[in-house]
Amino acid sequence: MKDFVDAPDLLRDCNLRDALRSATAGPHRRLDAQLSRLDLTSSDDRRAFCEVQRRGFTRLGAACGWDAAEAATALRDTLKALDEDLGPQPLPGPGLDLPLHGDAVAYLLLGSQLGTAVLRRTLPEPPTRGFFALTGDRVAWRAFCLRLGAQPDDSAESRRVLRDAIRAFSIFEHETRAVLSAPVDGAP
Ligand code: HEM
Repeated sequence: MKDFVDAPDLLRDCNLRDALRSATAGPHRRLDAQLSRLDLTSSDDRRAFCEVQRRGFTRLGAACGWDAAEAATALRDTLKALDEDLGPQPLPGPGLDLPLHGDAVAYLLLGSQLGTAVLRRTLPEPPTRGFFALTGDRVAWRAFCLRLGAQPDDSAESRRVLRDAIRAFSIFEHETRAVLSAPVDGAP
């Protein structure tokens, strides 16, 4: 299949796909730094990492009405895999977050799969089930990049996607702080 990077004629100069990367570079760096405190060779820390993913993507899914564009299937698969790691959780009630644009949620879900692929290589053994065994939906990511690469970054809707992607990173930062500052089981 032709990759979007091989089709520059389809890409606009100031496109929404590139704008998303620039607008969220700072929030991504902060989140990466917080999560990198976890040692993924330890099963407790892997569990904490999965807990952040489940809390974050449950909130993001609810906030977009579970309509995450190209990432709809990956979002469902991710939460199912996290239930395998952590045990099932009751279905969430109505979310408390303001609505998020589905493209913002798709960006975080499909983009974060690129980072997870890097992290997977640091695990003590290749995972066979659960979150770290998911290989990532490259077809969906490519389709998403192609679609957003053809959109201007300055329309009213694009500005909403950019603002919501930054808000979605804040939701993840909030959940990361909550999980990492929670007392460990059995601690006084
Ligand atoms: C320790 C934690 C993390 C690390 C080390 C990390 C690392 C990375 C790396 C290396 C990439 C680029 C991969 C490539 O281009 O092949 C990437 C991309 C990305 N990551 Fe993360 N990541 C982490 C956590 C997260 C989380 C929790 C989210 C959001 C929920 C996230 C969202 C994204 C997005 C949206 C991209 C795509 C950037 C773009 O090309 O526009 N990452 N990450």
